[in-house]
Amino acid sequence: MEQLRFDGRTAIVTGAGGNPSLGRAHALLLGARGANVVVNDIGRDPEARHYPGEASAEAVAEEIRAAGGKAIASFDSVASPEGAAAIIRTALDTFGRVDILVNNAGISIGAPFDEISVRDIQRHIDVNLMGAIWCSQAVWSLMKRQGYGRIVNTTSSSMTGFANQAAYSAAKGGVWSLTRALAAEGGPFGIKVNAVSPGGYTRLVIATLEADSPLLAHSQANLPPELSSPAVAYLAHESCPATGECIDSVGGEVQRCYVARSRGFAERDHSIETIAARWDEVMDETGASRVGLADMDTSAWRLRPYIAKS
Ligand SMILES: NC(=O)c1ccc[n+]([C@@H]2O[C@H](COP(=O)([O-])OP(=O)(O)OC[C@H]3O[C@@H](n4cnc5c(N)ncnc54)[C@H](O)[C@@H]3O)[C@@H](O)[C@H]2O)c1
Repeated sequence: MEQLRFDGRTAIVTGAGGNPSLGRAHALLLGARGANVVVNDIGRDPEARHYPGEASAEAVAEEIRAAGGKAIASFDSVASPEGAAAIIRTALDTFGRVDILVNNAGISIGAPFDEISVRDIQRHIDVNLMGAIWCSQAVWSLMKRQGYGRIVNTTSSSMTGFANQAAYSAAKGGVWSLTRALAAEGGPFGIKVNAVSPGGYTRLVIATLEADSPLLAHSQANLPPELSSPAVAYLAHESCPATGECIDSVGGEVQRCYVARSRGFAERDHSIETIAARWDEVMDETGASRVGLADMDTSAWRLRPYIAKS
């Protein structure tokens, strides 16, 4: 098969300055396949705990350039509209266009729900979810105008529910829903939006788990972050047929993750007792159907005109 390349395309990868990290691996692969890469990372989150050293967007950009690629570092935060706009401006000022946005920046703090601070809950939402929203919104009108765009969001298997990670899980679930909504909206404009659920031995994992954690040892031995990058790059490629999908890509396994609806029952005149009596039918997975993007077609809704208020 002919090599899938990104010559002439410009890709932004947020949160890509760590080593080891998923974002770095994605950025290196895209750069090696010809993309102009904006390597974004704030470097050191002043509120992060247990992180080994600093992330360096400049070091990763330099790695790409040393390998013959084109890259520039960006140090702005994804967690505000102003930061997101500055990241996009760096891409436009340097390379003149943006074709690909990989929303990868994230934080994770494991803690029981009754113990995690209000501030840390908010930070999960601000970086993991709002970061993807602000960066996507900052490129959206540009991608619409050029009739082309690829956005790859980073979710996590935690979106299906992990104990002691309520805020992280909520943010990642939000990222999945954002992916679906933008895929539905971007389709007519040539914008494809997908999500990847990655995994790998990274600074985030090192900072989250105790040094003697078996999961940390497993991750270090088996899950180099580079193994998540081909799926990200494929979803970012012009030839990618998919939109609105979530692809799990960890340790060499690549799978589709989707939501299904059971057949259930339909009975207008139903009561609480009907549900109790027919609960097995509600739960039965026989004949369940995947919830597709067409289920979210809102084109016939005739929305009222939007009036912006500051
Ligand atoms: N490592 C895993 O097993 C795993 C599993 C599932 C999902 N993920 C997700 O993959 C993504 C990458 O994580 P990683 O494991 O490589 O961790 P990482 O900590 O190495 O990478 C995340 C990077 O984001 C940067 N960052 C944090 N706040 C930022 C901000 N406001 N603006 C810009 N950059 C910011 C950090 O400095 C860090 O370098 C994250 O979204 C994470 O939630 C990781």
